[in-house]
Amino acid sequence: MSNQFLKGVLEVAIETALEAGGILLSEFDRPPTISYKGEVDLVTQADRRSEEAIVGRLRKYFPAHTIIAEEGGGQEADARYRWIVDPLDGTTNFAHGYPCFAVSIGFEQDGELAAGVIYQPVSKELFTTARGEGAHLNEKRIEVSRIDRLATSLLATGFPSVKRTKNPNIHYYRDFTLGSHGVRRDGSAALDLAAVACGRFDGFWEFGLHSWDTAAGALLVREAGGVVTDFSGRPYRPGDYETVASNGRIHEEMRRLAASIERRIEAGTAQAEKQAAPERQ
Ligand code: IPD
Ligand code: CA
Ligand code: CA
Repeated sequence: MSNQFLKGVLEVAIETALEAGGILLSEFDRPPTISYKGEVDLVTQADRRSEEAIVGRLRKYFPAHTIIAEEGGGQEADARYRWIVDPLDGTTNFAHGYPCFAVSIGFEQDGELAAGVIYQPVSKELFTTARGEGAHLNEKRIEVSRIDRLATSLLATGFPSVKRTKNPNIHYYRDFTLGSHGVRRDGSAALDLAAVACGRFDGFWEFGLHSWDTAAGALLVREAGGVVTDFSGRPYRPGDYETVASNGRIHEEMRRLAASIERRIEAGTAQAEKQAAPERQ
């Protein structure tokens, strides 16, 4: 890698993700201790232990860098260098014993995604990327798929644990399912993005994700030749409300279908409001 600084950053990110993955695996073997951030938003001892290890190690190597971590253990420091950490993406899966979860560590330099690692400790899959250096799975170069029609694509999406009842995504889920080979809902946005990067999924979308869910995954997809935007086509930045990732070839079709769903939702809302309005005398 030509950029020695990024090389060092990636090495630390990898070593950190492997350590955190080991912690998750050891916790996975025993009954989870679950507490709740809200009514349905659960957090386990594994989330906390993993975050502690990640933040501790990053702080040791890069004491002057800012760290944003989901469970609040990060630190404010030099904002030109920001680590964006999800210590356990897929907590609900984890707590139910469903072996689909990951550690996600992204790194931004001067506001741009520069490196990322996603580690799935059960399958021992390590996804790594650095800006301009491509994307890798267990050190082998990966690329997005070549599927060029929505009708023959396999997609993924997700639903946040909070506000499930009000989420418009249920409309998208229906139409995208009918218009493709299927939509998977596997409970880890980081792994969904990694799966787009290595061509298992051809596209992914979700609403309301946080920066720690997507920072590493968005760079992985782009470095694997894919595209990440919102539904209007604007380049995605971690923390944006809409995340739309694809192999690039089906991106426009995804956006067109989303626009038609949006029009239908608006028409349905207008109709419902009209019916609910009291009659004029
Ligand atoms: C969740 C997962 C899930 C997505 C949710 C996220 P967490 O993260 O990424 O796939 O649908 O929106 O909150 O809570 O397991 O870290
Ligand atoms: Ca997450
Ligand atoms: Ca998490």
